[in-house]
Amino acid sequence: MIKFHLGTNGVPKSVSQVIVVTPKNNSEDYNLPTGIIQKIDKHITEKENGFFTLYENETTRLVAVFAKDEPDLVNDSEEIRRFGAAVFKALESEKIEVVQLIGFNDGFSTCERSLFLEGMSLSQYRFDKYKQSKKEPTLKTVYLDEASVVPNEINALNNLVKAIFFAKDLVNEPLNSLNAPQFSELAVKMGKDCGFTTDVFDKAKIEALKMGGLLGVNQGSETPPTFNVFTYKPDDTVNKQPLVLVGKGVMFDTGGYSLKTGDYMSDMKTDMAGAATVLATIMAVAWNKLPYYVIGLVPATDNKISAKALVVDDIITISDGTTVEVQNTDAEGRLVLADALAYAKQFKPELVIDLATLTGAAAAITGWLGIAMAGNSKSAMEKLKASGENVYERLMELPMWREFEDLLKSEIADIKNIGGRVGGASSAAKFLEHFTDYDWIHLDIAGPASVKENKGYTQIGGTGIGVRLLYDFIETDIRLKSILHK
Ligand code: BES
Ligand code: ZN
Ligand code: ZN
Repeated sequence: MIKFHLGTNGVPKSVSQVIVVTPKNNSEDYNLPTGIIQKIDKHITEKENGFFTLYENETTRLVAVFAKDEPDLVNDSEEIRRFGAAVFKALESEKIEVVQLIGFNDGFSTCERSLFLEGMSLSQYRFDKYKQSKKEPTLKTVYLDEASVVPNEINALNNLVKAIFFAKDLVNEPLNSLNAPQFSELAVKMGKDCGFTTDVFDKAKIEALKMGGLLGVNQGSETPPTFNVFTYKPDDTVNKQPLVLVGKGVMFDTGGYSLKTGDYMSDMKTDMAGAATVLATIMAVAWNKLPYYVIGLVPATDNKISAKALVVDDIITISDGTTVEVQNTDAEGRLVLADALAYAKQFKPELVIDLATLTGAAAAITGWLGIAMAGNSKSAMEKLKASGENVYERLMELPMWREFEDLLKSEIADIKNIGGRVGGASSAAKFLEHFTDYDWIHLDIAGPASVKENKGYTQIGGTGIGVRLLYDFIETDIRLKSILHK
């Protein structure tokens, strides 16, 4: 992790001083601090990466970085984050370890400075655990002007970024190093480290709770399922009733007997991204000691085939008594989530948000760019949407027309687990709604959970989508409720 220092005490002599030029400026009108201008060698040559050497002697190099215009950007905050990423990239390509940013305070507002550091920090992520040759980022230390940001904010940002990197790691790990029991083991460890409790229900307990959805999906696996409950409840929380986060923890999805064909099975290690996001969000909240009551629920298993696996036409019973006719074993996410959503009722939650890589249909709508949302509380969805814009994890609302529910009617059981070819993201959401009796939002992250390109501050593979979204939502709610209580 980059160390951000406030103030110039202890800046080593041989340090690159980087002038950050805000993205709105072009190379002609740097907003350079006076005094530095005289030093500048006027022969500025642009390099590929938008990195200029302004002045250089044996000990000091003064450089400027500016972001190339990216006309497609639509959101000012995101522009600053990506600028942070561009500066990081430029520093990396120059193999710079220690840097002092100057002109940083002049060009940005306090809020923009945080966004810039966020973009820089998020850019550090690498997943090269399985590579023989590893490329650690070279940038280690960044000196900032004294009052650039509030010191606590740097610490809070570091914790949030650490949690996001943890989520990305979990998504990037393949099944042969991260199955359901291994996920639970890690969750227990992180709970101790961050300050929340993790209860892991083993197969016997899951059977006692009659979680037929989770057990049904697990039937074909040699690895037992786990059901994980994370509880973070510090003293003096602003919310009396918890926010419950539910994450789909399908550690790998072969499709079961409705086997995924062609390359559709590729990358299905990502099918536990919802679980990763729930765990990471609670980690960040706990590390930063937010006064907020949160519970996380993760049903975890892989979806595999064996002689014992579910077949199509099987009927299973969810823990709330609902019978489900399984018409497609690849629609397994909703089965494990049904048990978790039913389990959430006992907490009398203020709100439940589930995150799941649930349907290819949602991915077809959002692409890798956003999240498909459904729910039963307009006001909660509006708030989450605003957070989505803040952090650039954008939400689009799915229709929840009553007719989608009709698609799930079964001749022989209470409901069936697929709703037919069209409207797949909505009928999946309708299936989940059946198990709720509280305010609820469903986030289908099948599109953005994993990406195929390095761009800005995101890297190929797991994205940790949803962590910044939920964190912003919680922070906003804390602010709102503290004002109301005063
Ligand atoms: N895990 C998949 C959904 C998915 C697809 C996630 C692509 C990420 C990328 C899910 O379990 C699934 O297979 N859904 C089926 C549902 C269908 C059988 C009703 C789908 O979307 O095809
Ligand atoms: Zn599936
Ligand atoms: Zn799945």
